[in-house]
Amino acid sequence: MARESVSKTFVVAIVLAATCSLLVAGAAIGMRPLQEANKVRDRKKNILIVAGLYDAKASVEKSFEQIEPRIVDLANGEYAAEDQFDPETFDQRAAAKDPNLSVSISAEKDLAGIGRREKYSLVYLVKKDDKLDQIILPVDGKGLWSTLYGFLALDGDLNTVKGITFYEHAETPGLGGEIDNPTWKARWVGKKVYDDKGSVQLYVVKGVADESSPHQVDGISGATLTVNGVTNIVQYWMGDDGFKKLLERLKTEGA
Ligand SMILES: Cc1cc2nc3c(=O)[nH]c(=O)nc-3n(C[C@H](O)[C@H](O)[C@H](O)COP(=O)(O)O)c2cc1C
Repeated sequence: MARESVSKTFVVAIVLAATCSLLVAGAAIGMRPLQEANKVRDRKKNILIVAGLYDAKASVEKSFEQIEPRIVDLANGEYAAEDQFDPETFDQRAAAKDPNLSVSISAEKDLAGIGRREKYSLVYLVKKDDKLDQIILPVDGKGLWSTLYGFLALDGDLNTVKGITFYEHAETPGLGGEIDNPTWKARWVGKKVYDDKGSVQLYVVKGVADESSPHQVDGISGATLTVNGVTNIVQYWMGDDGFKKLLERLKTEGA
């Protein structure tokens, strides 16, 4: 081939493009396990944060040893058999899409706008002296622009909020994205999910909450549509279709 020719230019360009795409594809595939591990670590960190157990100086893995993950059958609130699923590897998001591991939700029940819900859910227990100190529940549902994924932590009384966090969403920064604002999240602490009759009452108001109400949380100005989504998520997941059966069972039987 001549030292400078059109065909040589093409060959060099093709070889270069092929080499680069191999390198990029290889890096993407090679990085996947690392990305997965980071996601798991991030989820654990968020669970620790919502439970008030996060210590920036300690390793997430070490701190997470205080937490006992269990898998619950949402239809009856019982724990799944220990040999049925491994909480370490159970992929709840995949389960929510798997026809064998999920159920469709009728339109009138589907407050969270998720269409289907997983039959089995991870829950995270924190025990002190063998007694349940708190429980952390995964919740998800539609905001304005995106599905919000988060955790709600309840005290050992299984009614008082210890914390709430949304670790993944695509709401607008400065508007719906303010659900990440620590000041707003702090407004949830101490609020009660259920009234004396056991019905879900917790909700985000438009404007300022009535201080005498144990069930109202301040709204976020300019983000009413997102926080209405948060109310719907809480109402759905704390209700009969969500974790209520589990919480009632734990109240009578203990963890
Ligand atoms: C570009 C754009 C992005 C917006 N993003 C959000 C959002 O993420 N969440 C939200 O609730 N409202 C968002 N809004 C505002 C809503 O359309 C709506 O006005 C607001 O939720 C009403 O809340 P307010 O009654 O507290 O003002 C957005 C508006 C615009 C123009």
